[in-house]
Amino acid sequence: MAKIPQQEIDDIRDKTNIVDVIGQYVQLKKSGSKNYSGLCPFHNEKTPSFSVAEDKQFYYCFGCGRGGNIFSFIQEIEGLSFVESILKVAEIEGIEVSEQYRNVSVENEVSSKQQQLIQLYEKAAEVYHHMLVNTALGETALDYLHKRGLSDQLIEEFNIGFAPNQRDFLFRVFQNESLDSEIFPESGLFVERENEELADRFYQRIMFPIRNFQGKTVGFSGRFFATEDFNDQDQPKYLNSPETELFNKREILFNFDKARSSIRKSGTVYLFEGFMDVLAAYRSGITNGIASMGTSLTNEQITSISRLTQELVLCYDGDQAGIAATDRAIGHLQEASQLDLSVVSVPEKLDPDEYVKKYGPEGFVSLLEHGKETVFLFKMRYRRMGKNMSNEKEQVEYVQELLHDLLDVDSLIEQDRYLTQLSTEFQISRETLQQQLRDLKQQRRSKEKAPTPTATTPAQEAPQSSVKKTKVQKAEELLLYRLFNDETLNQRLKQSQVTFFHEVYQELYMLFDAYIESEGEFVLAKFLDFLKDDRMRNIVSTIASLKVPEEGSQQEIEDLLQVIQTSSLVEEINDKKLKLQEASQKGNQQVELGLATEIINLTKELKQAK
Ligand code: CTP
Ligand code: MN
Repeated sequence: MAKIPQQEIDDIRDKTNIVDVIGQYVQLKKSGSKNYSGLCPFHNEKTPSFSVAEDKQFYYCFGCGRGGNIFSFIQEIEGLSFVESILKVAEIEGIEVSEQYRNVSVENEVSSKQQQLIQLYEKAAEVYHHMLVNTALGETALDYLHKRGLSDQLIEEFNIGFAPNQRDFLFRVFQNESLDSEIFPESGLFVERENEELADRFYQRIMFPIRNFQGKTVGFSGRFFATEDFNDQDQPKYLNSPETELFNKREILFNFDKARSSIRKSGTVYLFEGFMDVLAAYRSGITNGIASMGTSLTNEQITSISRLTQELVLCYDGDQAGIAATDRAIGHLQEASQLDLSVVSVPEKLDPDEYVKKYGPEGFVSLLEHGKETVFLFKMRYRRMGKNMSNEKEQVEYVQELLHDLLDVDSLIEQDRYLTQLSTEFQISRETLQQQLRDLKQQRRSKEKAPTPTATTPAQEAPQSSVKKTKVQKAEELLLYRLFNDETLNQRLKQSQVTFFHEVYQELYMLFDAYIESEGEFVLAKFLDFLKDDRMRNIVSTIASLKVPEEGSQQEIEDLLQVIQTSSLVEEINDKKLKLQEASQKGNQQVELGLATEIINLTKELKQAK
């Protein structure tokens, strides 16, 4: 299968000026002779920390640490795959890409099997849709949807369909398709019967196609549609496609593809429990709504959301289950992201869809606008539920729990206000509450800092941009920076057999070496493609945008190598000392002696290195 040749990719990158392209998404101002800066499109900020280097053709945000070349920028901002981003850049710049790549390349990343699956789903969606809107079999279902307020336009737009009550309906549709034999059983659209024949999984159901982030149909959710003739009480209300190669419930978010641009534009995303709610919001003009697929939020989903926006509004069902789910979702979101959260609780135990039905789109829009509460106020209500507040003990518990929640409130003004509120309501002095809060803070801090008793290996975590860098880390970054600017240094590094102290830098160095091995010359923008890993790209961009004197010196390199090499020794010695202590506590003399000797040798080595 034809791939876009490397030459063509390089060509598109070379012909493009990153400043022009990013300039279409971010207002850039010149800062310095080669750099531009602006507000980072990937996180919320008020002062610009996003910078684009014209000479090296890369971008980097000093605030959130994201960085990369033109393709990674387009990938991230448009939510595209690597190949799609290449075509997009070509399109923006008006660079001709021959038809042959334009067609195959995008599909190139999905295997032929995945392609066939998508083909199957898209075709099935079409057929179901046809059944709903054009046939007598779909008529009552269509009426039902109309009554629920779904317009023909919406039904069209979301390609909603109907699977009639026939166990071989879809199967017969595809009878004559020339698809690989494993495609049918693997698609999840069929179930195997005892005689090993395949039967339709979905029947007598209103069918909602589920699309992936690229807008391709990868599965279905079918809502059971009870009629007089067919009212099986055992049928689950919703039946989803099973997990397949393409349908991964951990990752999928309903309507994410359509909502993406309006989430970005508005800076806000609404998270609903069910997709009927997303549709209800949609027809009320709220197009930045999404829902998970009937499961609780996963880290994967949270990551995808936080790439797009900083602000998330939870708008789950107003019943007890919905409120409990809201509390769980808050927990997940606070743990896995920095998103600004707020909550809309739908009154009268309604779900958003029912609310729209009862109060109309205007009523719903106004609820979303004016009904938002802070996470803490939500917690105040939530924690009260199921407690008998006239019972002294339960009252104290309540206040304790809320003080814990108060730790998660960043704004001091808000904190102060809630303290007053609690103090007034429960007649506890503010000082006491404040003291208690301080204690909790202290506790949490020492928990976070608690040293792991056997920290034997050097820090393996990717050093975070926000954390203060250690001396070694600085040395490692500077050394890599020099290396990026003068690949001939690699000879010198190889001679000294340097091993970087932090694993990420060592890994990066090895990638650098592999790149030079195959390309000869170092071109940063090209190296960023070579990495194919966001985390590495961000680290490389951090390093490439270090503010250091242009010219290094021989002496500087020697010093850097020394810092790096001795630091590994120091670390090793400390580690051995710890083990020695343990051994002597246990009275293990044999081990003790061995370790002592090793320490002596390592210390000698360290002295020589100095
Ligand atoms: N869900 C599911 N399986 C079920 C019930 C629910 O997967 N048996 C998921 C669906 O994704 C659904 C979401 O949970 O969208 C919310 O469920 P629910 O609140 O029961 O659905 P509603 O949106 O209220 O559906 P309807 O108004 O059509 O009854
Ligand atoms: Mn509902």
